[in-house]
Amino acid sequence: MGKKVIAINSSKRKKNTYGLLIELKEQLKPLDIHMDIIHLHDYSIKACAGCEACIMTDRCPIQDDSQKLMKKLLTYDGIVIGSPVYMNQVSGMLKNFFDRTCKWAHRPALYGVPMLFVISTAGSGIKATSKYLKNVALQWGAFPTDTIGRKVSTMDKKIVPEEYNKFLQHLAMPMEHYRPSFGQIIYFSVYKALALKLLDIDRNYWVEKGWHQKAYFFDSRLHPLKKLFGHLFFKRLYRKINKV
Ligand SMILES: Cc1cc2nc3c(=O)[nH]c(=O)nc-3n(C[C@H](O)[C@H](O)[C@H](O)COP(=O)(O)O)c2cc1C
Repeated sequence: MGKKVIAINSSKRKKNTYGLLIELKEQLKPLDIHMDIIHLHDYSIKACAGCEACIMTDRCPIQDDSQKLMKKLLTYDGIVIGSPVYMNQVSGMLKNFFDRTCKWAHRPALYGVPMLFVISTAGSGIKATSKYLKNVALQWGAFPTDTIGRKVSTMDKKIVPEEYNKFLQHLAMPMEHYRPSFGQIIYFSVYKALALKLLDIDRNYWVEKGWHQKAYFFDSRLHPLKKLFGHLFFKRLYRKINKV
């Protein structure tokens, strides 16, 4: 298939989460999918200053590696996020990075990029962490697919292709063949309404991409009912949002 994916290990340790990523990398290799694993801890990612400059101007004043990493993510066909469960959620290091990508919620850059989640935990939090990661993917405009989760008690259980099939399918197929869920259509409609109503910078971006006239980021095999639902949802929301 000749695809390139990036995996982020967001534990400071190279242990459980990293071990799962290594196993996945080995399984993808014979399928002609090259996986680069990076360690988030190797990147200097400072805490968001809360200035909203990235949202308003597309530029972040903080000097560190977050922009470099964001640019790097854009160069891959697929993204794997690896996280240990900390306090029933992603690691703080990962959340810190997500906060720094906030402009992508306004001006999505990773549309059509399939994402896979790899989560390791002592025992709890896989479901909540997976749900949150899917949410981040939707905010980025990317395409969440599978979750591979392991507890300490199941850590030695071999990863099987059924756990990442959807990711592989989406890596292989053209975006136009994707079938976005109702949730994805709703997300798109919400962000479209916000973009077209609130900030010029967002509106210009969405119009430039032609998304202002679309039910989703790209023409995909959308059921007419989903399309209609998205349109009605958008119209209703657009009317309700007050211009600031
Ligand atoms: C700060 C911290 C918080 C944790 N919180 C949880 C938790 O809420 N639930 C749980 O089951 N395990 C929790 N764990 C255990 C880790 O999720 C588990 O050991 C994980 O596999 C570690 O991954 P790593 O080896 O890649 O660092 C926590 C560990 C740490 C260090």
